[in-house]
Amino acid sequence: TNGLGRDWPLKKWVSEQPCPGGRAENLDEPLSRADVLNDFNPSIQDKTTTYDPKYSLYLPPLPTRLSRPPSSIFSSRKRALTSPASILPTQMRLAQIVEMIHAASLLHDDVIDESPLRRGSASAPQAFGNKFAVLGGNFVLGRASAALARLGDPEAIQLIASVTANLVEGEILQMQNVEPSNGDQLGVSSSQVAKNAWTVYLQKTYMKTASLMAKGARSAVVLGGCADGEIYKEVAYAYGRNLGIAFQLVDDVLDYEAVEDTLGKPGGADLQLGLATGPALYAWEEHPEMGPLIERKFCQKGDVELARNLVRKSAGVERTRELAIAYATRARDVLQALPESDARAGLEALTDRVIKRKS
Ligand code: FPP
Ligand code: MG
Ligand code: MG
Repeated sequence: TNGLGRDWPLKKWVSEQPCPGGRAENLDEPLSRADVLNDFNPSIQDKTTTYDPKYSLYLPPLPTRLSRPPSSIFSSRKRALTSPASILPTQMRLAQIVEMIHAASLLHDDVIDESPLRRGSASAPQAFGNKFAVLGGNFVLGRASAALARLGDPEAIQLIASVTANLVEGEILQMQNVEPSNGDQLGVSSSQVAKNAWTVYLQKTYMKTASLMAKGARSAVVLGGCADGEIYKEVAYAYGRNLGIAFQLVDDVLDYEAVEDTLGKPGGADLQLGLATGPALYAWEEHPEMGPLIERKFCQKGDVELARNLVRKSAGVERTRELAIAYATRARDVLQALPESDARAGLEALTDRVIKRKS
């Protein structure tokens, strides 16, 4: 493949744009790890997933077993992140950059989702209009990019720069239709269609949410200059990836469970936007009549209400929450590779907060 993965509307245009160092498809080449390199490549992700009958799902594996015992983590020029005082200025700046990219993406997201509310206040497009919200997002992203360049670490720059592309591809994947279930003609059974829908759902969840956490965490290790860096880059990446997927799954659950007052944004938005998230995909397993609704993105009169009732009648919300817990548990497990420390305890506590959050 050309590194840009499945087809999407602007793909041809993007891949034809001249850019420094070659065309767009070569941009990711300097990154060495396949799972970082091939975010865009569904076929590679497929190979790394294993079927988990408990969730009727193909799940990504735990990271490869660590080759060294935890005690070898911090020595000589390395720094133990046991207290805030040991956080390097570059790592602090990285955290700010990650937050700026997140904020920029939400400015754009509220335009795309036509959302009137964010964190309990009028969203930017509601308050200032779409044009200013888009320009504001671009401005914040521009400032974040300049700050990233000033960090002067090519590996961190590549990782974080690739996140912005991931965010966009996640949004585009989310917009794509679930393939029609008249799959018999194509030699594809409807359960295969459902499985594909899950694969795309989890991929876009990684791209739009977990990539920032995974690559942000990995970049913090890169900037830390730890001598056993390669191992701990993997630990950080796996932690962020699993935590990020858990975070978005909880977000998708809260969209069904919580109301505007708690969420600080409109509840029940996903079906209105035509999106079939975890609860609807699980409900589809129990209620095949969900399939056509998903395929037409709940666009006909009464579809949204019908789908909401099917989700309510099913175990979709509970199963999505269980799946989120499974991902959070993976995030917690991977931390066992780190020595016991305040930092590790803090990250463990974060996995609990992601699961227990109500807004
Ligand atoms: C929130 O999801 C949105 C994201 C996590 C990513 C949005 C990304 C883009 C719009 C691409 C452009 C990005 C940049 C950096 C310019 P949601 O809509 O499911 O959550 P919500 O309920 O909080 O709105
Ligand atoms: Mg959105
Ligand atoms: Mg949104």
